[in-house]
Amino acid sequence: MSELTDLYAQIRVCPKCDLAKARTNAVPGEGPENAEVMMIGEAPGFHEDQQGRPFVGAAGKFLDELLAGINLKRDQIYICNVLKCRPPGNRDPFPDEMDACKAYLDQQIELIKPKIIITISRFALARWFSDKKISEIHGKPKKVGNLVVLPMYHPAAALHQPSLKRVLQDDFKRIPEILQDMAKVQEHVEEKKPEPPKQLSMF
Ligand code: URA
Repeated sequence: MSELTDLYAQIRVCPKCDLAKARTNAVPGEGPENAEVMMIGEAPGFHEDQQGRPFVGAAGKFLDELLAGINLKRDQIYICNVLKCRPPGNRDPFPDEMDACKAYLDQQIELIKPKIIITISRFALARWFSDKKISEIHGKPKKVGNLVVLPMYHPAAALHQPSLKRVLQDDFKRIPEILQDMAKVQEHVEEKKPEPPKQLSMF
């Protein structure tokens, strides 16, 4: 069992907060263990709770469209939420629920080691930019240690406010651009690596 599947098993039976009592399924997250792009949403909704998978409802359909617009498929990215269980009636997460769940997200980030983290919820955004408004910083990448954090509006917001659809489409275009820039930097670093010392021949 990989460390990630082991973590999923822990999340599925997690008793750490009251959300455990009402859930049908916990929703650990899904995607390749070596994904370059990680998206962090808010919390499972009705359909996610039923199926135990993230973003399987209407917002998920739109997310798939946004990904298709940059030639990415869902199974090429890693997707999870700040909360792993559905808050009743889809209310906002409570601070104690976020605290109880925080270590799971920490471990997911540690194990996946993504190049880009896309925050698609206010509560994911708050982890890196607690004092910023999404209207001011969406689509603007920020380097945080070894990774880039790219804040975006939640795809569900565009279902209520159609003008955000275009904003999201434009912001999604930053993803391949950032990955390309990061690959160029990596090439440059590799070019500059000193030659390994030549082995001394015995003969
Ligand atoms: N909205 C979220 O933030 N996460 C999901 O998994 C589904 C909808």
